[in-house]
Amino acid sequence: MRAVLFLDLCHEGIIGMFFRKNKAITSGIDMDNLPRHIGIIMDGNGRWAKKRGLPRSAGHKAGAESLKKIVTEANNLGIEYITVYAFSTENWKRPQAEVDYLMNLLMDYLINAEKTLAGENVRIRAIGSRKELSEEMQEQIIKTEKLTRDRTGIVMNIALNYGGREELVNAAKTLCRKAAAGELNPEDVTEKDMDDGLYTAGQPDVDLLIRTSGEQRLSNFMLWQVSYAEMIFVDKAWPDFKPKDLHECIKIFQGRGRRFGGI
Ligand code: FPP
Repeated sequence: MRAVLFLDLCHEGIIGMFFRKNKAITSGIDMDNLPRHIGIIMDGNGRWAKKRGLPRSAGHKAGAESLKKIVTEANNLGIEYITVYAFSTENWKRPQAEVDYLMNLLMDYLINAEKTLAGENVRIRAIGSRKELSEEMQEQIIKTEKLTRDRTGIVMNIALNYGGREELVNAAKTLCRKAAAGELNPEDVTEKDMDDGLYTAGQPDVDLLIRTSGEQRLSNFMLWQVSYAEMIFVDKAWPDFKPKDLHECIKIFQGRGRRFGGI
């Protein structure tokens, strides 16, 4: 009996651990040092399409396909949070036809999320200002968030009509209102208070930020949350970014020395 128990423990514990580690070593990823939160600026859809003589919309469509694969892979790896920049507060400046196409793509994504990402157990949230979105879109966001909220896998934040500065202004407004109501002494304001006013309240900061297509800027993305993120700029356009590229980024992240201001 004792021997059986011992063997069981070995199987589940030591031996199990050995195999898990071995698998991680094979893929080169240290499963004990994964980024908890990955942010992605999915750039380069338009250039990807142009290079192929296709309309920009084809690039966005391919980008949406790429996104499904990357979220699935991130979830399989055990990443807890992923935030993707789908539409910024500045993207309204694009030609109306492109804006409409992106909105339809996002709508389809939200509607189909239940089916397409069900197997992956993904929880979907939209972050950003909703009031400028169509009523239909606002309703769909609420529906999709509700449908997926009890899932236990990765949390996917879709940044939609999102702007980092707008998010910070909103957080500041909330604090000002509390101070004006006498509920908060301005001298007592903490980083946690600011954090609580963000769309991502309660979530960990971004550990790894990836931007595709060679541009090296933040473009108003998660200005507060990326304070200590490791940034990786990939030359490939977003539709060409594959799960193996995600693996590479995680390996680079794991090779960096994160000191958070220490030595
Ligand atoms: C930037 O590429 C990309 C966007 C503004 C939109 C990102 C959207 C997707 C990847 C697809 C839809 C997303 C979801 C969640 C379904 P760009 O158009 O600026 O490319 P360019 O710099 O080459 O012109």
